[in-house]
Amino acid sequence: MPATSVEELAVLAAAGSQKTKVIAIASGKGGVGKTNIAANLAICLAALGKRVVLLDADFGLANLDIILGINSKYNLSHFIKGCRNLDEICQPTAAGVDVICGFCGIESLAGISDFAKERILKSLETLIDNYDVIIVDTSAGIGRMVLSFCMASDHTILVTTPEPTAITDAYTVLKALTIKRYEGRVSLLVNMASSVTEGRNVYRQISSAATQFMGVELHHTGVLVRDERVSLAVKKRLPIVLEYPKCSTTRALMTIAARLSRVPVNSQAEQSFFKKVVNWFF
Ligand SMILES: Nc1ncnc2c1ncn2[C@@H]1O[C@H](COP(=O)(O)OP(=O)(O)O)[C@@H](O)[C@H]1O
Ligand SMILES: [Mg+2]
Repeated sequence: MPATSVEELAVLAAAGSQKTKVIAIASGKGGVGKTNIAANLAICLAALGKRVVLLDADFGLANLDIILGINSKYNLSHFIKGCRNLDEICQPTAAGVDVICGFCGIESLAGISDFAKERILKSLETLIDNYDVIIVDTSAGIGRMVLSFCMASDHTILVTTPEPTAITDAYTVLKALTIKRYEGRVSLLVNMASSVTEGRNVYRQISSAATQFMGVELHHTGVLVRDERVSLAVKKRLPIVLEYPKCSTTRALMTIAARLSRVPVNSQAEQSFFKKVVNWFF
């Protein structure tokens, strides 16, 4: 493929929809690269001129702040409890994206008053207007919380590796979303492939099973090849696109981001993302 410049990709990205797009990153299996992908794609989308906020919705292992090298003083729990406003917990980063840090044990906040719920919803909906894209980093598994974040999103990116266990788990998430009649777009990102060819074969395998057994279309987000620079960057608490801006993985991530930004948003959705999540949440 001929090399494409950031400027060219930005022009292509501008052709995308103006409505805020919510993209959930899910996987089934843990450790397949969701958090790295969420952080790096967010930065690539920001480089393409999009206003992006990253929401750390992995309430078991909230670690987006580690990969982004930020020290979050406040997180979603401070906002939900009413000690901080949303703009105080929504942290800008040097990478050009804003981050809402998560926290562990969010289940314990059930039973919040209607007044507080209304305040949360109003603030979140005001926030959404300030961004073109919200990227939600979810936890592993097919728990109610993960599925609810996916169900509320316009687009769910399923991340798998070529390992059979990761493939089966990604397929299980797709099945769960299909059973719940998910109306958004679902696409597959094959990470840590030994080659682009291997990654494409994994995609073909899963998408043909999805068509054959569930009658659903699984789109192709792309392939990322296993690259030691991802973990070298994490050790420095930097996403790979910032630490190695010219490497092949960064180029692949930029291409994926440009493609994602061109996917239109379903403007027919009756409720906003946060309304769906908050209604479920409390
Ligand atoms: N393309 C890749 N090549 C090599 N290592 C990767 C790649 N993507 C992710 N990793 C590594 O995999 C591990 C898990 O990544 P992480 O993003 O935390 O996964 P998850 O959020 O799905 O649990 C990390 O150590 C990360 O450095
Ligand atoms: Mg993670």
